[in-house]
Amino acid sequence: QDVRGMPVQVRADASGAAAPKSGSSTFKVAVLGAAGGIGQPLSLLIKMSPLVSDLRLYDIANVKGVAADLSHCNTPAQVSAYTGPAELAAALKDVNLVIIPAGVPRKPGMTRDDLFNINAGIVRSLVEAVAENCPNALINIISNPVNSTVPIAAEVLKAKGVYDPKKVFGVTTLDVVRANTFVAQKKNLRLIDVNVPVIGGHAGITILPLLSKTKPTVEFTPAEVEELTVRIQNAGTEVVDAKAGAGSATLSMAYAAARFAESCMRAMDGDSDVYECAYVQSEVTDLPFFATTLKLGKKGVEEIISEDLNGLTEYEKKAVEALKTELKGSIEKGVQFANKQA
Ligand code: NAD
Ligand code: LMR
Repeated sequence: QDVRGMPVQVRADASGAAAPKSGSSTFKVAVLGAAGGIGQPLSLLIKMSPLVSDLRLYDIANVKGVAADLSHCNTPAQVSAYTGPAELAAALKDVNLVIIPAGVPRKPGMTRDDLFNINAGIVRSLVEAVAENCPNALINIISNPVNSTVPIAAEVLKAKGVYDPKKVFGVTTLDVVRANTFVAQKKNLRLIDVNVPVIGGHAGITILPLLSKTKPTVEFTPAEVEELTVRIQNAGTEVVDAKAGAGSATLSMAYAAARFAESCMRAMDGDSDVYECAYVQSEVTDLPFFATTLKLGKKGVEEIISEDLNGLTEYEKKAVEALKTELKGSIEKGVQFANKQA
């Protein structure tokens, strides 16, 4: 890994960023919701990637200025702006990777599910456009509630006849980033060495850090397990409360989404050693969607690492059973919404 936590490739360029295996900037990336709290810093981080040749910024407002600003950075990606539904098709044409942080964020006192009524429709219409304009793209969904928006995306793509479950991801990287940070702090470990798989989904108790599988191997007391698990599960709320009405995590999310996007691109570029956790269609439990570690490849998910669910502690086993009820409800809610609207 480099200092950003991004896995290092063959060589680094002058900015310290990893160089593409293919030797050139190859990927076209669209950010939908690019003028928002996550969208802006995420677009900056994507603009810094040497893997990107073409960066398309789409939003319903205020995106022209963001694109003009970013376009002055002397990194290879060409930046262009697209405003409103009339320009969405052009934003998506032939794109390899679509990242979706469009939608409203939480305020104190809200759950992620409270965002469903607004964000479900936003994700549905954006994914319809993805199906029509870049059906082969990988899709990274950030908009909450992720536990429901990913099933919505899957149903929309199915209805359009272009669903490939290997290409649709709910981005849960922020949970891993937080788990790594909190565990390293608690145990006084070198941050760059720490990896904690986080499974389940992305809301409250559905976020389950597998502390017993922390690398490097480290012992936790039962009290530490409880304290760290609860902190990781409530970390989003920690930020929402600290921002006191001004939104939810944006900077750490942009960092996490950029790491996940970079991993997707490195895998598409032919790197054969790319692993990330994400929420995808999966058979590791009896639920249709579940987050685990994934091996990423040229066409998206290459392998779902079901080993994550083996050898769990009693605490983790109970937590998996407990989270399944909530996750099941969120999945069904998304599927019903998509099919009712179809
Ligand atoms: P924000 O309000 O700052 O930005 C959202 C952007 O989406 C705005 O620029 C808005 O104009 C745009 N938008 C709204 N409707 C749109 C549409 N139909 N098409 C395109 N763009 C549209 O919010 P934010 O802080 O950037 O958060 C965005 C979403 O990300 C929220 O739903 C939030 O809950 C979620 N989130 C997820 C994670 C995660 O770990 N997956 C982490 C943080 C935030
Ligand atoms: C997070 O985990 O920070 C995001 O899901 C935003 C939120 O609402 O907490």
